[in-house]
Amino acid sequence: MKVGIIGSGGREHSICQTVKKSNKIDEIFCFPGNAGTKDIAENVNIDLDSFEILKNFILEKKIDLIIVGPEKPLVNGLVDYLEKFKIKVFGPNKIAAQLEGSKIFTKQICEKYKIPTAHFGIFETKNDAKKFLKSTNYPTVIKADNLASGKGVYICNSEKEAIVAVEEIFNGKFGLTKNILIEEFLKGEEMSFFTIHDGKTFKTFDTAQDHKRVLEGDKGKNTGGMGAYSPSRLINKDLKNKIIYKIIIPTLKGLKELGAEYKGFLYTGLMIIKNEPYLIEYNVRMGDPECQTILPKLKSDITDIFLACCEEKLDKIDIEWIDKKSLCIVVCSKGYPDAFKKNVEIENLSKIKLDKDKYLFHAGTLYKESKIYAIGGRVLNFVSLSEDLGSARDEIINNLDKLNWDGGFYRKDIGYKVIDR
Ligand code: AMP
Ligand code: GLY
Repeated sequence: MKVGIIGSGGREHSICQTVKKSNKIDEIFCFPGNAGTKDIAENVNIDLDSFEILKNFILEKKIDLIIVGPEKPLVNGLVDYLEKFKIKVFGPNKIAAQLEGSKIFTKQICEKYKIPTAHFGIFETKNDAKKFLKSTNYPTVIKADNLASGKGVYICNSEKEAIVAVEEIFNGKFGLTKNILIEEFLKGEEMSFFTIHDGKTFKTFDTAQDHKRVLEGDKGKNTGGMGAYSPSRLINKDLKNKIIYKIIIPTLKGLKELGAEYKGFLYTGLMIIKNEPYLIEYNVRMGDPECQTILPKLKSDITDIFLACCEEKLDKIDIEWIDKKSLCIVVCSKGYPDAFKKNVEIENLSKIKLDKDKYLFHAGTLYKESKIYAIGGRVLNFVSLSEDLGSARDEIINNLDKLNWDGGFYRKDIGYKVIDR
């Protein structure tokens, strides 16, 4: 069969490589892919904002299954559009994708179904928001309502900082926004929980914990994710049940009431306080780099899983995992998450030794005239599976020494809360 993957990051390269392992696959297309997917798939550079051009290509090439990696096309309704042309596509529809597309949409479901989350208020004007900020407790959290590519969230320690946040959001720093959300600051430890859905049922999809801050010791600015490890150190049976029964099932009920069924990956971002889960946010896709961290542990054929989700047959299959731990370190361009140089050559990639427990997934890379260049903030993902996370990290750092790329940097302390206790 022929599979198409939408996206160009490390997440999509890892999906591409995992799909490639299936003996059902004849051909893979990546829209647009990167220098890593180029070796195992056909990279197709078309404008993803034009659903029609994409649809025409899919129909012309007779692609059997489309997997959507990032949130933007999901929130913009790509799944609804392709399904109108009877194209099989893995991912949530436009209504369901509002779980990520609008924080207020999610909060309203939380309110209706008493899902544990931070107390919050919705404000339509700068004045109303500022009035509230005079009397609230600090730190407080201020969020733009719309998709802001992981940005658009401010943790404010004072009224002065909060006013700056309100001004920036309403002035359009993250695109047009009609509302802002001000919410209680939750003090606990974050955890990501992944499930996979077919519209009728769902299954858990292993856990992973990412490190969002740019500097070692989880300090500095927020990023898309500097590395991750799997499984998460916080997960236990009791917590898992609470997440499913107090958060995920009521959310699905809320969606159903709005006429939407959930199909695709669901990423539940949580704050865990004394073994109690609080919902921070939903993402309607796999995490990046959590996806790269988790997928190498998958024993089952991922194509069977995607097809089962598209055909509402997820209850008929088992998802099996390799019993190992996994760790991922992300190599970024120097300067990220602020300004960084583009088109910096990455040499030495041929010196990296990979095997069945070692993976290298590309993210912001471009292949040009036999050379590979960094074109994004997050550039490469090194993943290693092992019996213990410490060995996995050592193996990666060994390979990173061989890479010795002076255009980039990475965190050496990924997984420190488990490894370096
Ligand atoms: P979000 O985009 O909603 O995931 O927020 C980005 C990051 O801000 C999260 O990963 C948390 O680290 C932090 N954050 C968001 N909401 C809260 C909250 N209510 N309390 C504490 N931290 C938060
Ligand atoms: N690693 C965080 C995210 O994918 O949103």
